[in-house]
Amino acid sequence: MLGAIIATLFLGAFAFADVRTTLARPDAAINSIPFSTRAFWMRQVNAILVQSGSPCPFSAFASVIVNHTAPGLGTLVCTGVNSNRQTGDPTLHGEIAAIQNCSKVLTDPAGEFRFTPTQALNAFSQLSLYTNAESCSMCASAIRWSSFREYIFGTSIETLITAGWGQIRISSFEVFQQSFELPSPARLLGNVLTNETDPLLTWQFNPDAPCPSGCARTRTGSCGPSLV
Ligand SMILES: *[C@@H]1O[C@H](CO)[C@@H](O)[C@H](O)[C@H]1NC(C)=O
Ligand SMILES: *[C@@H]1O[C@H](CO)[C@@H](O)[C@H](O)[C@H]1NC(C)=O
Ligand SMILES: *[C@@H]1O[C@H](CO)[C@@H](O)[C@H](O)[C@H]1NC(C)=O
Ligand SMILES: [Zn+2]
Repeated sequence: MLGAIIATLFLGAFAFADVRTTLARPDAAINSIPFSTRAFWMRQVNAILVQSGSPCPFSAFASVIVNHTAPGLGTLVCTGVNSNRQTGDPTLHGEIAAIQNCSKVLTDPAGEFRFTPTQALNAFSQLSLYTNAESCSMCASAIRWSSFREYIFGTSIETLITAGWGQIRISSFEVFQQSFELPSPARLLGNVLTNETDPLLTWQFNPDAPCPSGCARTRTGSCGPSLV
């Protein structure tokens, strides 16, 4: 009995090691990229949200996709914001919007890349996806199907749940662990710059939470642009 337990633990540990999926610390210099560079791109995600209309958008979820195999800060390839309300497409979370946008940008016959569909598919293995909030299981699966090189998130699903967002309670870490049969696991870096990503996501369902900067509580109790 004890032997069986030890064998199970051993095999469990072995299977786990084989998956090679770890959730790295937010300041880990994965692929030699320093925290300051991660923070730069995470701030771009927040900037896109604020530029998308309001300093405190309700569905405040966005992504940027970056080529870090290019030197220095890396280069921006495409962006996406949650577009459910604008399009009526319930699957257009920020990550899906960004992935679809990248496919368009990479294959645009008049664009910078002019890739064939096959070249576009292969290009994702050089790219890193930044999202201000941990992906839902749909988006985390899409990230794995895309074979991204890296996946970096800010606010965790746990924080979203605590803040009142309805969520499917499967962490990205779990999706990654269970996707061991797919090639090229992306490196996973979580909880990056949460001191700046959380404020855009923790006011929507909590009337006592402070509004994001530039916003104040309105008569309806929501946050809206402050009148200056
Ligand atoms: C990423 O950067 C590398 C190195 O600069 C370059 O060869 C490659 O074409 C770039 N890919 C994309 C999709 O930007
Ligand atoms: C696609 O990405 C480009 C480059 O970042 C951006 O300018 C454009 O607004 C994005 N389009 C959509 C629909 O998000
Ligand atoms: C958030 O924390 C990072 C360190 O993790 C720090 O560099 C940054 O200045 C902080 N942002 C604000 C607005 O305080
Ligand atoms: Zn999602």
